[in-house]
Amino acid sequence: MYTLHINELSETEFLNQYWQKKPLLIKAGFKDFADPLDAEELAGLAMEESIESRMVTNHDGWQCENGPFEDFSVLANDHATLLVQAVDHWHPEAAQLVEPFRFIPNWRIDDLMVSYSTPGGGVGPHLDQYDVFIIQGSGKRHWRVGNVDKNIKQFSADKALLQVGEFEAVIDVVLEPGDILYIPPSAPHEGYAVEPAINYSVGFRAPNQTDLLTAFADHLIDLDLGQARYSDADLNIQQSRGELTLPDITKLRHLMIDAIKDDNTFLRFIAEQLSEPKHDKDLLPLEPKLEPNELADFLREYPVIYKAGGLRSIYIAQKDSVLLAVEGHSFNLPSKHLSIIAALCDQQYQYTEQLLAHSDCLLFRQTLSTLINEGYWYAD
Ligand code: SIN
Ligand code: CO
Repeated sequence: MYTLHINELSETEFLNQYWQKKPLLIKAGFKDFADPLDAEELAGLAMEESIESRMVTNHDGWQCENGPFEDFSVLANDHATLLVQAVDHWHPEAAQLVEPFRFIPNWRIDDLMVSYSTPGGGVGPHLDQYDVFIIQGSGKRHWRVGNVDKNIKQFSADKALLQVGEFEAVIDVVLEPGDILYIPPSAPHEGYAVEPAINYSVGFRAPNQTDLLTAFADHLIDLDLGQARYSDADLNIQQSRGELTLPDITKLRHLMIDAIKDDNTFLRFIAEQLSEPKHDKDLLPLEPKLEPNELADFLREYPVIYKAGGLRSIYIAQKDSVLLAVEGHSFNLPSKHLSIIAALCDQQYQYTEQLLAHSDCLLFRQTLSTLINEGYWYAD
């Protein structure tokens, strides 16, 4: 278990003063830090087809290759970095590093990226679209971080490597094990290993308008919704036939807004969309499948069920029901299950005794057996 100390700040003070605003150096954020994995294990993950990885070198200019990799000889030399995405989805001990940051809601958390850099290695000066906490594991790395700059120009240093030019650093530090940097979106930064170094990046996600609108349109198409059409039974003769008038534009805009305003449609869409997985994960679907009427026996047999690593589960408390969304799938349940659904989403594991108390409801049994059958929650 890792306990986070944000200097002398409370979580609320950190959110008010730094979150999305300015970078922060957190010295000894994790005291007596012990790495949950080593470079060999990281390389093992980077060999897997279903795990996203990159190798970045800066020998004569920048080069970036995408995994999976079989040959790691480049890491025998300086100026090389191996980066592996979504390690929390595959490595339960590494996943523990995300837990101290859950004072930020689950749906905002993306994944844990882990990098191993040889001396001089890094990904160059760049900015990220999302907030990130970079934790220093073993080794040391020299970091420079600038203030948020929304106008900074990005360019491609290599086909897959966006960088920025020179920037003024407000943090210039050699990180030691357990030190943490908080870097808000659009704050330029660069880090080069001083000695072989492991870094852990807890990354966040935040959708933009295009993401949401395109996904919303897909949702309407999938469910055959959004069929209300422009109508104008009150049409009057218009002076110029070529003109699209302001009142018509307003009506058209409202036609679109009304689709989003519809709670039934929008809440299901947003819950499914924000729980949509971005990376593969290590799921263990149950075989043979559990029938809803076998659930109670299953829950009696196993005292605890665990949430799969990196599982995206969120819920929305509604007036008469609770909407649960897991990995892009939604389930509507009566409000009497709200507290147990909240517990399932909030915690990494759940005592089955408390689930048993809800198993007289068929809808609950169907939902929970689906979640277990898919491997979203599993018994050990
Ligand atoms: C890294 O660990 O090398 C990259 C972290 C980052 O700057 O985003
Ligand atoms: Co970065």
